[in-house]
Amino acid sequence: MDSILVKGNGPLNGTIPIAGAKNACLTLMPATLLSEEPLTLTNAPRLSDIKTMTALLQSLGAEVSSLQGGQVLALSSHDIYNQKADYDIVRKMRASILVLGPLLARFGHAVVSLPGGCAIGARPVDLHLRALEAMGAELELKDGYVHASAPGGLKGGTFEFPIVSVGATENALMAATLAKGTTVLKNAAREPEIVDLAHCLQKMGAQIEGEGTSTITIQGVDRLSGATHPVVTDRIELGTYMLAPAFTGGEVELLGGRIDLVGAFCEKLDAAGIEVTETKKGLKVARRGDRVKAVDVVTEPFPGFPTDLQAQMMALLCTAEGTSVLEEKIFENRFMHAPELIRMGANIEVHGGTATVHGVEHLRGAPVMATDLRASVSLILAGLAAEGETIVSRVYHLDRGYERVEEKLRACGAQIERIEG
Ligand code: EPZ
Repeated sequence: MDSILVKGNGPLNGTIPIAGAKNACLTLMPATLLSEEPLTLTNAPRLSDIKTMTALLQSLGAEVSSLQGGQVLALSSHDIYNQKADYDIVRKMRASILVLGPLLARFGHAVVSLPGGCAIGARPVDLHLRALEAMGAELELKDGYVHASAPGGLKGGTFEFPIVSVGATENALMAATLAKGTTVLKNAAREPEIVDLAHCLQKMGAQIEGEGTSTITIQGVDRLSGATHPVVTDRIELGTYMLAPAFTGGEVELLGGRIDLVGAFCEKLDAAGIEVTETKKGLKVARRGDRVKAVDVVTEPFPGFPTDLQAQMMALLCTAEGTSVLEEKIFENRFMHAPELIRMGANIEVHGGTATVHGVEHLRGAPVMATDLRASVSLILAGLAAEGETIVSRVYHLDRGYERVEEKLRACGAQIERIEG
């Protein structure tokens, strides 16, 4: 397993290109199953999760070609001969559950392995299933698989999500495009990735209104055509790299960055003493003084503070002036980066879903272990500002969601290298 070696060093200066969103691409790719015509995705990120979704779709019979070094994905689901998503692929990536809605909508049946939990929580899929049942799906859980059928096809229905769920909204949205009649999704997720999926489906001929609000209305159609669609910019990669100069000083421009994707996050950066300026090419970020100020953070569904940026923000606040309180309200176990940061000298108390961070002057480099995708990158950022060397192990987590981290940071002056393991 590879590791990343980071040395604390001076300010970062330069530009970082922001890729297409992993979490948009992972729901846009299964949308190919809704149509027998080709779907082309441009601005696709080059990540291991994309390769996993590719393998899953190919196991169903879809053709997926990766062009232009992986930045263009050409997909075709003309000849789907298998409607079963096997555990050995699904267990690698939870987003695999997103083939359920499209398979059911187009073929009237699907067998998809339950994804199982992961490090940050149990990650149930009950809301995915209940939303599909509201459209007439008949579901049976057997041997760790969901056996879904919709004899005569899905029918439009109304479903109100008891809690906001990004994946369940995506599954239901895709399924509803081919259901007979009108579907209304209430308390739907409003993330930019949902809006991006809706825009792609509309290009394919879907009748969708209200994307980006809490109520999405879909008028089913008989069939969908193909489309070409650019994957929306990755707001989590953007937010992650916006924090880099806040750790080290200097000024970094994030190419392709859009302020509308990181609204609530930018408000917290401003309060912490980090300047964000819109430029023609994206967003420019710099720390106002020598040290950021403590701020309190509560993670919420979009447009609130993203849970996927909580670990990175906690790492920054470890050396803030004052005490910060972070509340993780989306996942039940998303503070696993805290013990690793404490190894680097941070002063953090965790009680349930609340972490209290007492700012210290400096962190010290140490060998640390990545436990999940976003925790991995928070440890690398902490290493950029720590005194001495930090070795982050298990970086396979990192490669799932961040393309070429060491290249992007090294281009701005970071002393960082990958150690093949
Ligand atoms: C998506 O996961 C993202 N993944 C996550 O990003 C992100 O953290 C999360 O949304 C929240 O924004 C992808 O898009 C591939 P949820 P998802 O359904 O859809 C509970 C990353 O780092 N829940 O919005 O799985 C669930 O347990 C990853 O890129 C149910 O109870 O998240 C959680 O507590 C991590 N039943 C809450 O809802 C369900 O059926 C929100 O989960 C579904 C979810």
